[in-house]
Amino acid sequence: MNVTIEAARSVLRANDRGGYTVPTARLYPYQWNWDSAFVAMGWITFDEPRAWRELERLLEGQWDDGMVPHIIFHAPADTYFPGPDVWRTAHTIPTSGITQPPVLATAVRRCLDVATDRAGAEARAAAIYPRLLASHRWWAAARDPGGTGLVGMLHPWESGMDNSPAWDVPFARVPPTPTTPIRRKDTGHVGADMRPTDDFYRRVIALIDLYAALGWDPARMWAQTPFKVADVGINAILHRAERDLLALAGRFGTEAERAEIADRLELSRDAIAGLWSWDHGVYLPRDLTTGELIPVATSAGFLPLYAGVAEGTAAALAQTLQRWRMVVPFGVPSTDPNHAGFEPKRYWRGPVWAIVNWMIAQGFDAETEPKAAWGIRDDTASLIRRGGFAEYFDPTTGEGLGGGSFTWTAAVALAWGLLED
Ligand code: DGY
Repeated sequence: MNVTIEAARSVLRANDRGGYTVPTARLYPYQWNWDSAFVAMGWITFDEPRAWRELERLLEGQWDDGMVPHIIFHAPADTYFPGPDVWRTAHTIPTSGITQPPVLATAVRRCLDVATDRAGAEARAAAIYPRLLASHRWWAAARDPGGTGLVGMLHPWESGMDNSPAWDVPFARVPPTPTTPIRRKDTGHVGADMRPTDDFYRRVIALIDLYAALGWDPARMWAQTPFKVADVGINAILHRAERDLLALAGRFGTEAERAEIADRLELSRDAIAGLWSWDHGVYLPRDLTTGELIPVATSAGFLPLYAGVAEGTAAALAQTLQRWRMVVPFGVPSTDPNHAGFEPKRYWRGPVWAIVNWMIAQGFDAETEPKAAWGIRDDTASLIRRGGFAEYFDPTTGEGLGGGSFTWTAAVALAWGLLED
């Protein structure tokens, strides 16, 4: 496989559609929210203006209430379902009506920190800062109206870990759509054994239909949804992003804004601690419909490390990782490989994802478990050497799966320094 620095840059350039980067051609022909945040951290290593442009183009889709949607449909494409005609949102540039894990503030801080054009970076980050603040305020108001410190997701796609076995039980409460046609395009690009099932799509579309009928009004959605989960991944990523936003507020914000962000951080630190499970050796999501923890261990369960809130649990998390690695030769599988729902090839039910590995490794580093951090880095580098810049990888064989020439895999390889000339 040609996995040099130049090859990774070429993947980004080849998927540049004019200031925004598609995750991969055909399978995902638009701009995706958390993909773009990771991709900007790749661009910044070799083309600083292009990295800032990526973030600015993502924010062209931001709604008036602060939400940054999960897909921005900048230009028409006929290779993806569900397109803007299914979402039926009112934004001028068509967008989806849900969001995705908020990596954005973290990406802005990193781009600002590593940029060599200091004046240019300061100016662009300063202009973006109020949009980030609006987005974090939206999370608090729309997705934690009770002020619990944990935000809820209202669609499994918001987790970014779409068909994780962790969502099986809560998602089964969503009645599949009886009427809206499911015109899947994804299985025309990638083997059906690597993608979610048709039943999953019928429920995905049922939720979209419900929210479209509610006018995408966050309060009505929160009140009427049959699917409401506090995902540990989203909450950890948001907490980390709040810390990064606080650092940005130190340069561009006011005293009152810093106090507001610090208050949210304190609340969510304690709330995330309540997701820890000694039985599973990871943090677990909470089903907000029943109030119970969901007893399925996934790679998201390590992310409180990355948030810097895994107090007293880093050693136990390192042991969990070791246990999983005794079952599969490549880490970190997206689902506990001992779990009945583990499927090594099917999207978020088992495969390894480079972006998740990067976040977990950063967490282990910070929590002084360097052996775990280096192990994850070695596994990721070796997977990319075998499978190229694939969308995801089979943890049992190392095979590259899903979309090929995938931009966030290439970007993470650049940002993490996994490649050579
Ligand atoms: C898809 O279409 O599979 C995406 O993951 C949804 O965001």
